[in-house]
Amino acid sequence: MRLLTLDLLNPQLQTVQYVVRGELAIKAETYRDQLKSGGHNLPFDKVISSNIGNPQQKGLDQPPITFTRQVAALTEWPALADLAPGVFPADVVARAKGLQDEIGSIGAYSHSQGVPFIRKSVARFIEDRDGHPASPDDIFLTAGADAGVSLLINMLITDPTSGILIPIPQYPLYTATLAQHHGRGIPYLLDESSGWSTDPASISAALAKIKEDGTTPKALVVINPGEPHGRAADGRDDGGAREASNLHERERHPFTSFKKIVRDLNSPVPLVSFHSISKGVSGECGRRGGYFELTNVSEEVRALIYKLVSVGLCPPLAGQIGVDSMVRPPKEGEPSYALWKSETDAIHTALASRTKIMAQRLNALPGVSCVESPGALYLFPKIELSAKAVEVAQEKGKEPDAFYALRMLDETGICVMPGSGFGQREGEWHYRLTCLCPGVEEYVGKLERFHMGFVQKYGSA
Ligand SMILES: Cc1ncc(COP(=O)(O)O)c(C=O)c1O
Repeated sequence: MRLLTLDLLNPQLQTVQYVVRGELAIKAETYRDQLKSGGHNLPFDKVISSNIGNPQQKGLDQPPITFTRQVAALTEWPALADLAPGVFPADVVARAKGLQDEIGSIGAYSHSQGVPFIRKSVARFIEDRDGHPASPDDIFLTAGADAGVSLLINMLITDPTSGILIPIPQYPLYTATLAQHHGRGIPYLLDESSGWSTDPASISAALAKIKEDGTTPKALVVINPGEPHGRAADGRDDGGAREASNLHERERHPFTSFKKIVRDLNSPVPLVSFHSISKGVSGECGRRGGYFELTNVSEEVRALIYKLVSVGLCPPLAGQIGVDSMVRPPKEGEPSYALWKSETDAIHTALASRTKIMAQRLNALPGVSCVESPGALYLFPKIELSAKAVEVAQEKGKEPDAFYALRMLDETGICVMPGSGFGQREGEWHYRLTCLCPGVEEYVGKLERFHMGFVQKYGSA
């Protein structure tokens, strides 16, 4: 009998790289197990997962929105409304009943494109946001934004010369999925010195470069608010492909969607915009809900996408209901409104204050500079590393910023992701950390002590 071995599998799969769940995350889990089992001599008493935007993860404590969970509870078990009279606000009971009438049991498959009623809610949400019409027929509900992104990349890669323009630094889903489907990433560099904005010249430069190797550009990825650095596009440069609820400084940085720009300009450019319930105040990553909307896409392509999503039968119903709660929150005057408002405001306030404090304190450290993020869960500080640190990292077979992050994890229990996993300019080093950890003073204090110790040991750049 022969074991299943790697040589029997698609070789492309071995080229996939995804730092967010890589070596550091695995080591952090090992430390967590050691702490749980007691007998350890680690220099910290908890592991803090700042490596992934997972707001409700144990230890990070972003609370779920009560309204979302109440609707989820009643759609899971409709009898609960009668068993617990007076517990659920009247608007929640009515909302759940309305969804149940449309969906039936959430244990049944739905329409492959997503429950039509929920797609209508999404279309209304987009119309209110952009002031342009949106059709439920152009909306596909998905298991997180990720499922839609993978599908689209799969469709666009027609042969190994197909390429997709990817902002650098990027969230590695895009390059990992491209690797899987044997496509090419075409990196275009964002400009850190102007707050990670997109300079059209960097896109032109990337396109000029691929002329030499015969790559065919098929699409351009824009991430807004940005990942891993948290930039919010201002409507003048890069438009927007993700959604506004992440933005905790919405007055200073109002959200402009790419869809709005395409419609305002009456542009024929084909666009696919993704959104999900995973981040921001919703923070329901594990529920796996999201959607994408097609703009300027032909009827035939839409039918093909429908055929492809039908192969997967339907997106999870719990995620679809989560999308409905996100796009249709309680309205002013409804019983759930006051609580919903205070909970969402509290999350925005906590994120805004933590990001600010963290960026300010990081900027005060020698050899560290950090663009403040108005709009996401992340910061992406730049670190200058000495020749000695780079040399030691190389001896250990690590990227210098991965070495820095590993030392940080070993000494503080804080798990961050090295910038090399997201892409960065040659010779520069960064790391990405989330702003989700409570107790910002203690947290930043640990980062500061670690950095100063690192500089003392390896010298400054
Ligand atoms: C830019 C970007 N795209 C896609 C995703 C995937 O998110 P999800 O599939 O949970 O919606 C993430 C998650 O962090 C992201 O930052």
